[in-house]
Amino acid sequence: MANVVIIYGGNSHRSRLKALFEKTEGYFKAEGHETSSIFVHELPAEDLITANFASEDIQKANAKVEQASLVVVITPVYKAAYSGILKTYLDLLPQKGLEGKTLLPLVLGGSFGHLLAIDYALKPVLSSLGATNILSGAYVLDSHIERVEEDQFIISTEITERIDRVLQLAGEELK
Ligand SMILES: Cc1cc2nc3c(=O)[nH]c(=O)nc-3n(C[C@H](O)[C@H](O)[C@H](O)COP(=O)(O)O)c2cc1C
Repeated sequence: MANVVIIYGGNSHRSRLKALFEKTEGYFKAEGHETSSIFVHELPAEDLITANFASEDIQKANAKVEQASLVVVITPVYKAAYSGILKTYLDLLPQKGLEGKTLLPLVLGGSFGHLLAIDYALKPVLSSLGATNILSGAYVLDSHIERVEEDQFIISTEITERIDRVLQLAGEELK
């Protein structure tokens, strides 16, 4: 059993991004891993925006990352990159806070125009935090996820299969 933390860089629980979160959390729980989550948009905004390293909530979140072997970073594409919401939290991790961990990026975008955002935007940041084992992850189009109720989503079969493979590969890193 390993510790898995999921960092959620979306702006709300209503976002279709939540479907990726639920799929990820469900997978690792079913595999018997200890999962925890960090919903960045629920952390105190002032602590994030003033880079308050002393914040108790930020330190609690950082402790989850510290304990994890696998860190899943889930973010929407905003303005051709990961969300600023996510970055406000990543900026508050210790300098080498991702050293020795496996990183799995899962990105949701509105078009294929920014398919490479994982490579040109997210990976350099994760590397600068000490991560060397960054999996290729997945870039998902938002049109493949349908919100059917306030908090219920349907992911297309094609994407479900792709995400399953990506999660399985990440799971193998934990053996
Ligand atoms: C402020 C903002 C900027 C966005 N910029 C991009 C972008 O540059 N490229 C892209 O493919 N999608 C972009 N999108 C689309 C989102 O990535 C996508 O629609 C979102 O992840 C789906 O989440 P939702 O269910 O909350 O709409 C943007 C969305 C917003 C709100």
